Amino acid sequence: MTEGASVVAIGPGRVNLIGDHVDYAEGLVLPMAIDLATTISGTRGGDRIVLESDHEPHPAVVPLEVADPAAATPAWARYVAGVVAELRPEVGFTGTVTTTLPVGAGLSSSAALEVAVALALGFRGEPLALAQLTQRAEQRASGVPCGIMDQLASAAGVEGSALLIDCRSLEVTPVALPADVEVRVVHSGQERQLSGSEYAERRAAVEAAAQQIGPLRDVTDPTAVEAIGDPVLRRRARHVVTENARVLATVDALAAGDLDAVGAAMAASHASLRDDFEVSTPVLDALVERLAATPGVVGARLTGAGFGGCVVALARPGALDEGWAVAPAAGARVSASG
Ligand code: GLA
Repeated sequence: MTEGASVVAIGPGRVNLIGDHVDYAEGLVLPMAIDLATTISGTRGGDRIVLESDHEPHPAVVPLEVADPAAATPAWARYVAGVVAELRPEVGFTGTVTTTLPVGAGLSSSAALEVAVALALGFRGEPLALAQLTQRAEQRASGVPCGIMDQLASAAGVEGSALLIDCRSLEVTPVALPADVEVRVVHSGQERQLSGSEYAERRAAVEAAAQQIGPLRDVTDPTAVEAIGDPVLRRRARHVVTENARVLATVDALAAGDLDAVGAAMAASHASLRDDFEVSTPVLDALVERLAATPGVVGARLTGAGFGGCVVALARPGALDEGWAVAPAAGARVSASG
């Protein structure tokens, strides 16, 4: 892409169907890129990145040399600066950001912005490399030691399919969703408080548990976690071990068209995130309970990091009319002309 070319880059958001708080433990996750996305349009050139956003009063203005992305202002410019610091583009960019994603709702609006910025600024490579670069950008921008799920789902999306991601091998396998269910995302009304410290504390606990009994991904017998003396670490480890098994059970159940089994796995996942991993809230619990009890709903659970944010539900079309109906979409893409 030459200087002065007109560029359009699209980064989709994501929702995770099942497999939360396991990506940073080499686990299995089942997210999908969604048909709500962030789009960047503009031209390459100059010696800084200037982006106006339809959701933000102030533009992001980022120099090509960024020392500390977390210090960029306004706050949304941190994500732009994180990508610039990792990608180190040779020329700048001037353009606009528009999005159909609810910002800060748990649909990975930050990952969508990061992958779109990277593509707009000239990243070329495989979806995995794009995800790895933007994961590092997110970590530097936010200070949260996130896993790779959000960025890889956005980068590697496949229309019509969820993605089974093996966070150890980083292999991505499309998993077709049945035509007779829709995916709904319902906001709990609780602003997600993804305080870096709580997330980092959970991740550290999982790593401490692995120090004691070995990589949790290799633990197939859930009773093995009983060897962990500390009750909190034991619960955290039990969540990871059982969640990996539930992701595989969900993939099998989807292939078999066994929606009852899908719903059971989602219910068990929510209970595990609530009781063992302790990242749910009473508001999320009540919403999951209400949605799961609605006729035509296959299953419901909190999705993403927890501590507020969204619930994902699988439902027969028309069974739910609240929240956003989202469809599995293609991954991030860019086009240039001129
Ligand atoms: C956030 C992180 C992801 C993942 C989820 C929980 O979305 O960015 O890497 O850990 O929480 O599954």
